[in-house]
Amino acid sequence: MLAIPPEVIAEIKYKNDIESVISPYVQLKRRGKNLVGLCPFHNEKTPSFTVYPENGSFYCFGCGTGGDIFTFTGLIENLDYIEAVRLLADRSGVSIPEKGMDDSYQKLKTTILAINRETARFYHQILMSDAGRWAMEYLTGRGLTVATIRHFGLGCAPDSWDSLYRHLTAKGFSVSDLLQANVISKSSRGTYYDRFRNRVVFPIINVRGNVVAFSARQRPGDTKAAGKYINSSETPVYKKGENLYGFNFAKNHCAERVILVEGNMDVVSLHQAGFPNTVAALGTAFTLEQARLLSRYTKEIVITLDSDAAGQKAVKRALETLKNSGMPIRVLVLPDGKDPDEYIKKNSPEKFEALLNGAISDMEYKLLNAEQGLDTQTDDGKLQYLRRAAAILAEVSDRMTEDYYAGKLSERFGIAKNALMATIEDMRRKEAKQQEKKQIERVISPRYSQNDINPQKRFHKKAAVAEETVLAVLLQHPDLYGVCRAQLPESLFVTELNRRLYRLLCELLEQQETADLSLLGQSLSAAEMGYAVSLQNSVKAASHADETLRDSIKVLKEEALFNNTGEDDGDAWENQMRAIIETKKGD
Ligand code: UTP
Ligand code: MN
Repeated sequence: MLAIPPEVIAEIKYKNDIESVISPYVQLKRRGKNLVGLCPFHNEKTPSFTVYPENGSFYCFGCGTGGDIFTFTGLIENLDYIEAVRLLADRSGVSIPEKGMDDSYQKLKTTILAINRETARFYHQILMSDAGRWAMEYLTGRGLTVATIRHFGLGCAPDSWDSLYRHLTAKGFSVSDLLQANVISKSSRGTYYDRFRNRVVFPIINVRGNVVAFSARQRPGDTKAAGKYINSSETPVYKKGENLYGFNFAKNHCAERVILVEGNMDVVSLHQAGFPNTVAALGTAFTLEQARLLSRYTKEIVITLDSDAAGQKAVKRALETLKNSGMPIRVLVLPDGKDPDEYIKKNSPEKFEALLNGAISDMEYKLLNAEQGLDTQTDDGKLQYLRRAAAILAEVSDRMTEDYYAGKLSERFGIAKNALMATIEDMRRKEAKQQEKKQIERVISPRYSQNDINPQKRFHKKAAVAEETVLAVLLQHPDLYGVCRAQLPESLFVTELNRRLYRLLCELLEQQETADLSLLGQSLSAAEMGYAVSLQNSVKAASHADETLRDSIKVLKEEALFNNTGEDDGDAWENQMRAIIETKKGD
């Protein structure tokens, strides 16, 4: 059943304690022997995400997500369980014996990377040759040096339907692999054609230096072009929203600050101008994965998106995304409605640097933005604006920031700073009350209910609770397995979910001393894992485990009896009666 041997799983767990796995993503605070923080898997303001170093698990009481280091890594890095195991193994230098299916997928990935590398080389060679003259002229015409063009491995896809197809098949790559790499497509007539034609090609390179995808810009004046930019679709080596253009270089220059821009051309030209810490989000909205990737490398993000309407929208969304990452963000609005590439050409790198250093903060941007649609010359507009501004400041937890901006606003609008501060305090109190109400509502009717994962619990409340207790005891006191083995056949479980967990657990405990949930990771869904972890950490079984277990077994036997009285099954009835008598004797 296990593709990865238990001792390997154990070694990886030993080398990656849960606190060190989670803390790069979640700010954890100690609470007793556990740690708590804001859940990275749902939006929350009060921490319900709990880490249990004792048994290497985590659980969120808000959304029910839970598991071990592998579950966490899988969820946060978007990997399946096995991939997460591999990643943590890699990171800690544990080697996993490979075989079977995984191997062929691994091979496909390797082949696609080889195809991509060859594709990038092919297009680059064309750019450097006569056939690519137009593209070379275009790029140098935009101020790029040949050194920069080489550095980024830029290329030119010729105006041909099949030049890449012919090149790669001649190199021995199979059509099926080329399709999977997404560098060619199949027409409705069944013929194959190159995806990128008559375009400037930007290879997308990941942090490990592999070409994982392409972004290709149309030749200016090409009226047949399908769109300004065409990007690779997702492939086994490329997931959208996970990579950032230019990050393969930027990752070595962004310890202090990273500059986030919109376009590929902006990245290339800013790197050339002396800002190698620039990246772009590659045709999708800036994602949480990208924010996390950046947060592992840098202290601050400066967003300089185009100052057109689309750019402003993108800024707003990017700010929303970054808000939860806890990363300091600043926004740079470029003066003449230009993108950074144009700005730097019209002005100078020094001027851009100055703008960068003075880039307005997230707070200033929000305050600036709040003026939209209001006429702050009128009294009415002023008051409305101040209310909006107070609401923005009410969200700030840092008193110094609040004081600073309250001072600025009071100066600008000629109102008493005290009055403004009082309003802010008022708003905070109201917000806190609302939060409290929500909190209470959540306790009364938790958004995450165990009925969701175990729908049968609704109809068999008593039995399900006893089942949960049994599972919790077994998870916390595996030494009591003998009692279960002797007295609790799985047939006494009423709800299917618990029965399955019980069976898996018994199978495990037949062979192992410990009930390590990580060994069941491949048999459980993410939701089931979360559920199992919640039982593992529940207080139900914390004390008097032995007694608790026997009580629960008794309940299950009585329930079975009760449920069966309608049926005329004398044997079963007698057996159960006997079992109950046995249990009573044992007390
Ligand atoms: P821009 O239109 O601002 O492109 O789109 P750019 O990079 O500044 O290119 P130039 O200066 O006109 O040559 C910004 C980014 O949005 C994505 C690309 O990643 C592009 O770099 N995009 C744009 C697409 O994915 N598809 C499109 O059709 C257009
Ligand atoms: Mn541009």
